Amino acid sequence: MNELAKDCERILFPAETIAEEVKKAAAWLDARYEGTMPLAISVLKGSVIFFCDLVRAMKTPVQMDFMTLSSYGSGSSSSGMPKIVMDLAAPVDGRDVLLVEDIVDSGHTLVKLKQLLGGRGAKSFTVVSLLDKPSRREVDVQADYSCFTVGNEFIVGYGLDYDQRYRNLPYVGVLKPEVYEK
Ligand code: PRP
Repeated sequence: MNELAKDCERILFPAETIAEEVKKAAAWLDARYEGTMPLAISVLKGSVIFFCDLVRAMKTPVQMDFMTLSSYGSGSSSSGMPKIVMDLAAPVDGRDVLLVEDIVDSGHTLVKLKQLLGGRGAKSFTVVSLLDKPSRREVDVQADYSCFTVGNEFIVGYGLDYDQRYRNLPYVGVLKPEVYEK
């Protein structure tokens, strides 16, 4: 067992439940992208675990690229000003872009990405997010497909971090308040 598991007060979505939802998201994408080869973009670092499982569950051939955005720094709430830390390796013009996120929270990251990639001439733009946290939204934006909706709890695991830890927990869990209230 991951030694950081003790910092979770409960498991919200076990690995098996996530795997089922990943399969459903992949089937939804396969139907949407039939006959095309989308450019799947993982928004690092949080989405990387979901991304790897999702593209492997898809039957549609994809190309992959990666972009690092950061909005939280080492704190626990969004700064509202996501910054590009690492850009894509290749152009997106004329491509069907599949953007893969771990969570849509305030929505600022998604708005920024839509503006940025739309401005670069992407042909179509589809957003799949593992988690949606609508209670925290500050801008009117949403993913085209979300696997789970969550309340305003501090969640970690399956890619999501607190202070760069907990990303490799195989499930999504709720962090004990004493961990982040220290
Ligand atoms: C998280 C998450 C999303 C973004 C969502 O990234 O991965 O990209 O925040 O928040 P928002 O809707 O409030 O913009 P973070 O900046 O924490 O970086 P990380 O992916 O490296 O954990």
